[in-house]
Amino acid sequence: ELSPIDKAKFVAAKRAAAFVEDGMRVGLGTGSTAAWLVRCLGEMVRDDGLRIRGVPTSTRTAVLAREVGIEVISLDEARWLDITIDGADEFDGDLNLIKGGGGAHLQEKIVATASDQMIVITDASKEVETLGAFPLPIEVIPFGWQTTRALVEETLVSMDVLGRDISLRMNGDAPFITDEGNHILDLNLKRIGNPRQLAMVINQMPGVVENGLFIDICDTVVIGHGDGKVEVRD
Ligand code: A5P
Repeated sequence: ELSPIDKAKFVAAKRAAAFVEDGMRVGLGTGSTAAWLVRCLGEMVRDDGLRIRGVPTSTRTAVLAREVGIEVISLDEARWLDITIDGADEFDGDLNLIKGGGGAHLQEKIVATASDQMIVITDASKEVETLGAFPLPIEVIPFGWQTTRALVEETLVSMDVLGRDISLRMNGDAPFITDEGNHILDLNLKRIGNPRQLAMVINQMPGVVENGLFIDICDTVVIGHGDGKVEVRD
């Protein structure tokens, strides 16, 4: 028997899996919700003979996808994708997102952008009026990361963005390392008034690889509830 939160994630994943058709190239997201999706697709491959090729957005997802019997190819082999299905950490009324809580937003953004459509699967707790309660992850290269952090901080001060504490994400006693060998800075901003502008400004700084704001990338959000109900927004 699933807990209400797992049930919500599962029913969202199950509904989103119905968007996947035979022959598609599918971007496979990262995180606990996306893991349900990968397992659902694995079942459809095994039980219904669904033929798909999957492009994972992290090492973790690649391992799981192979485990459940999905054929895994690289993005460069696929070149473009029919659909990407992924989780998110926050979404707003315009279907803009914060992602990267799992540290995979760089590959996730590349894969989602290469897809005809991106579907986000989530439970209802991640819906917000204004993005930013969830700390915004930015991936930075390790070289000079403290200098990069200072530059980010200075810029946020000059932009008058509230609540400017910035922390280096840790994994125990050592800095967290992404699949691309980089570090993550988590920006505790509380509320992001102009996510589009912030995303552009942050990505222009030397040392920054990618931020976790997904603007105009997501087409559909599938929201699961603990009682098994599902809402689709697009
Ligand atoms: C991974 O980097 C994130 O973008 C995930 O999509 C996000 O953290 C959602 O994870 P859960 O489904 O586990 O909440």
